[in-house]
Amino acid sequence: MTSLLTILLLVALTFTPVFSELCNPQDKKALLQFKKDLGNPTTLSSWIPTTDCCNKTWQGVLCDTDTKTYRVNNLDLTNLKLPKPYPIPSSIGNLPYLDFLYIGSTPNLVGVIPPAIGNLTKLHYLYITHTNISGEIPDFLSQITTLVTLDFSYNALSGTLPASLSKLPNLVGITFDGNRISGAIPDSYGSFSNLFTSMTLSRNSLSGRIPGTLAKLNLAFVDLSRNMLEGDASVLFGSEKNTQKIVLAKNALAFDLGKVGLSENLNGLDLRNNRIYGTLPQGLTKLKYLKTFNVSYNKLCGQIPQGGNLQRFDAYAYANNKCLCGSPLPACN
Ligand SMILES: *[C@@H]1O[C@H](CO)[C@@H](O)[C@H](O)[C@H]1NC(C)=O
Ligand SMILES: *[C@@H]1O[C@H](CO)[C@@H](O)[C@H](O)[C@H]1NC(C)=O
Ligand SMILES: *[C@@H]1O[C@H](CO)[C@@H](O)[C@H](O)[C@H]1NC(C)=O
Ligand SMILES: *[C@@H]1O[C@H](CO)[C@@H](O)[C@H](O)[C@H]1NC(C)=O
Repeated sequence: MTSLLTILLLVALTFTPVFSELCNPQDKKALLQFKKDLGNPTTLSSWIPTTDCCNKTWQGVLCDTDTKTYRVNNLDLTNLKLPKPYPIPSSIGNLPYLDFLYIGSTPNLVGVIPPAIGNLTKLHYLYITHTNISGEIPDFLSQITTLVTLDFSYNALSGTLPASLSKLPNLVGITFDGNRISGAIPDSYGSFSNLFTSMTLSRNSLSGRIPGTLAKLNLAFVDLSRNMLEGDASVLFGSEKNTQKIVLAKNALAFDLGKVGLSENLNGLDLRNNRIYGTLPQGLTKLKYLKTFNVSYNKLCGQIPQGGNLQRFDAYAYANNKCLCGSPLPACN
């Protein structure tokens, strides 16, 4: 009896085609469901059920070869030519080992950021850019404690900024430019961890004052341009900081520029089209790396400090202020 079973087993093994694949069956199932939920776009035609999803023939799919678990950890999807509008499929939540998720340049991607994303508890990098996803940036993102960067630039997101994001212990930056986000920058954004160095919120409808709590941040890069922010922005400056670029153009900011401290690493300062007053700080002449600079269309006054890189910028960088004078503008009287 036992020998008969053994023989049957051997026969069965001999005639079973040896198809050993690295792709985890649950991951494959989730990917194929994801493809189906997006209307089987031709851009995903390489996702074929009979092939190994880990063998790099599946467009935009990578598996974890480092740990040799071969779980799908990287989904890099751009220009998905969706036949008609589809939301982000909740089947994405069944790829629990995702570390990197990028979906870009897909105008027919609509609807909200699905709660299923909250299932991706190993996610470090989340990029959804140049799509038509809408609704608010969800609060549940603050539960994905692994998150390092969040980029939702150029979508149709609205509502207010979720205050809870500042709880993310590993977050290095947020990039939410080119949406319809409104309301004020939350006070809590001053309590991002000290890893947090990059904040891009330009081209939205943010209003109100920049919270004083942001003084605690040490941002290398900050872009709040093209919003409706008002009042004081001096908290973003400071000689003790490592700030490289400050872009605040096209808001309604009003503060005394003469009183701000300047990071010696500053290479870009764009303050054009605000209501900034006072004088240009003498310290600007000491900035060795300053290469983009524009303070035009403000209410600045007094002599432009002479020296450093300041005379390398043309008159248009200083034009339309209250009473700035001296090179490259006409001499002071
Ligand atoms: C990957 O899949 C393709 C398509 O089925 C196949 O031709 C190729 O041999 C496979 N490569 C590896 C390394 O398994
Ligand atoms: C979230 O993960 C659980 C367990 O891994 C799974 O059963 C469930 O279907 C997932 N939910 C969504 C919305 O993806
Ligand atoms: C959003 O949809 C509109 C209309 O279909 C389209 O013109 C636009 O390019 C889309 N936006 C993005 C960022 O893809
Ligand atoms: C500065 O900004 C003004 C106003 O937007 C613009 O006309 C000018 O070209 C800019 N100059 C430089 C040097 O960037």
